[in-house]
Amino acid sequence: MNRSVRRPLILTAAIALAAALGTAALAGWNRGDTANAQDPTLHDLAAAQGKYFGVAADNHEIADAGYAEILGGEFGWMTPGNAMKWDATEPQQGRFEFDRADEIVAFAEANGQELRGHTLIWHNQTPTWVQQLPADEMRAAVDEHISTVVGRYADDLNHWDVANEVYDDSGNLRDSFWLQTLGEDYIADAFHAARAADPDAKLYLNDYNIDGVNAKSDAYYELVQQLLADGVPIDGIGLQGHLIVGQIPDTMQENIQRFADLGLEVAITELDIRMELPADDAKLAQQAEDYGAVTEACMAVEACVGITLWAYSDKYSWIPSVFPGQGAALPWDEHLQPKPAYQAIRDALSGQTQDAPATAIEQHGQLSVCGTRLCDAAGEPVQLKGMSTHGLQWHGDCVNDASLDALAGDWGSDIVRISMYVQEDGYETDPEGFTARVSGLIDDVTSRGMYALVDWHILTPGDPNVNLEAAKTFFAEIAETHADNPGVLYETANEPNGVSWTDLKGYHEQVIPVIRERDPDSVIILGTRAWSSFGINEGSDASEIVNDPVDAENVMYAFHFYAASHRESYIEAVAAASEQFPVFVTEWGTQTYTGDGENDFAMSQQWTDMMAEHQISWANWNFSDDFRSGAVFTEGTCPNGPYTGTSNLKPAGVWIRDQILSD
Ligand code: XIL
Repeated sequence: MNRSVRRPLILTAAIALAAALGTAALAGWNRGDTANAQDPTLHDLAAAQGKYFGVAADNHEIADAGYAEILGGEFGWMTPGNAMKWDATEPQQGRFEFDRADEIVAFAEANGQELRGHTLIWHNQTPTWVQQLPADEMRAAVDEHISTVVGRYADDLNHWDVANEVYDDSGNLRDSFWLQTLGEDYIADAFHAARAADPDAKLYLNDYNIDGVNAKSDAYYELVQQLLADGVPIDGIGLQGHLIVGQIPDTMQENIQRFADLGLEVAITELDIRMELPADDAKLAQQAEDYGAVTEACMAVEACVGITLWAYSDKYSWIPSVFPGQGAALPWDEHLQPKPAYQAIRDALSGQTQDAPATAIEQHGQLSVCGTRLCDAAGEPVQLKGMSTHGLQWHGDCVNDASLDALAGDWGSDIVRISMYVQEDGYETDPEGFTARVSGLIDDVTSRGMYALVDWHILTPGDPNVNLEAAKTFFAEIAETHADNPGVLYETANEPNGVSWTDLKGYHEQVIPVIRERDPDSVIILGTRAWSSFGINEGSDASEIVNDPVDAENVMYAFHFYAASHRESYIEAVAAASEQFPVFVTEWGTQTYTGDGENDFAMSQQWTDMMAEHQISWANWNFSDDFRSGAVFTEGTCPNGPYTGTSNLKPAGVWIRDQILSD
């Protein structure tokens, strides 16, 4: 700690405690003796970057010898989880009790740890006697409480959480007894009282759900500016960091930075990242990524001074008691064994970004058709799985940086079909605008390591020859621009209908050379007759393709289906066809062919099993928040998300994300 002078009182407490526990116990607290702490410790790694790594603890936890070893060893800072709250320190007016707080302070100091004080003014864990006081008596009680508690530990603590959770989730001042009795000045008054009692401690506001940029953190951003303008002695803001696996706000660094820019320091004060129980490997892997991301967000901003875990092991987490069914929130499990998150934190503290799994493009490179399969650059068959956008003219706001990040990272998608309608307010209304938009999206998708499938989405009229010249213009421009990009595939016509195979084949044979001239090696996928059903939906079958294939190399044939409408006979037909010519399912859904209605997940599973067996790549319809059941997001998700996790997914979305994530 910065201040070397210890108050005799605390030394006395430490000695008394040592006597009570036996000197061996106190020696056992010493970080030099810790067998289980890794070298360098989390705190050592953080300290090398000018930050601290801390932990919260309660009295019964430091009494658990095995637990206390890591507690005293790995961490450089300590927060009493409950021992300094009002109900612990002044349960009755004027009767102060410091045994529990002293014990934590003694433990920390015996282990060379610095301390955060938590917390003075809170709507929870404050005795009823305080809550019932009239305004003037409440004000006096606050002054006495703060001057006594803060004064007592003035030489021991570096930080105080002066006011905790003063806003509600909508960004309004919380309607607590503090606000009701004292009005909003209670916040500023508490800071003044704390400064008077300890001129050196850094004084913090602290709250949950203010980790990213949102209405609640906006409210704090306003409040802090007002307090600073009013000369209120506030030094820092604590982002509690009670987070959910897969739902780390992607604006965390930005949020930390904006408070830093106001001249505040920032700390992550109560970090835990919970999941639905039971834990499994996938959730633990996501949790590791999430701990890494939070750590990196703090590391990236100089004013972020440190990170505190709200207990370090699942053995003592508060989560299961408050969020039923959830838990496994900490980097060590209940047997004190490190989880994947532990290593992820270490990596982030050491400045090593985690080894992101190789992207689809990194793994497979330039694709090509080999026999009846899609193959990677090494000539090995691959199956790509991913999503199709909805029409860009309607749901373009679902395709943005955050949603594509989610699709690449949280969904593990290999491919994005960029669905550009030709009619229905699509391309024909603004050829240049739509070409530019698709071109930009190809870059956005492939720079994230996903393949981009460019879909010339014709539907009505169903004969693509009607728009042949437009198609040539469009594909020429796209192929010219992206010729060197190994991540681009082309789909020449979405769902031809009411057109003969001869005419359709003639269309393909005119569009293919336009692409090939500019981009010789890309895979081109050809729409098939009767809404890309190999002609089946107009009474024909795949033999029309087998008997009269399109005259071109490196091409595949598109099939589309909707599992609730297209059932066993279609599955058999596609399985058989895929042994005769290369098939790519560029569009399919788990519901009826309208993209709406009940999901048939059992039939969908039969389809995905068949496609896995025959290595048929697919893109599911659709990555939008359209009202229909086939749009994966609930209405209103776009444009702001969040797109990660499952909170905004419809049932089809939850199901399809699992299918894409599974091997
Ligand atoms: C929690 C403690 O961990 C529990 O033991 C106690 O029963 C309730 O409080 N935000 C805070 C912490 O600021 O003080 C809370 O701690 C967790 C949420």
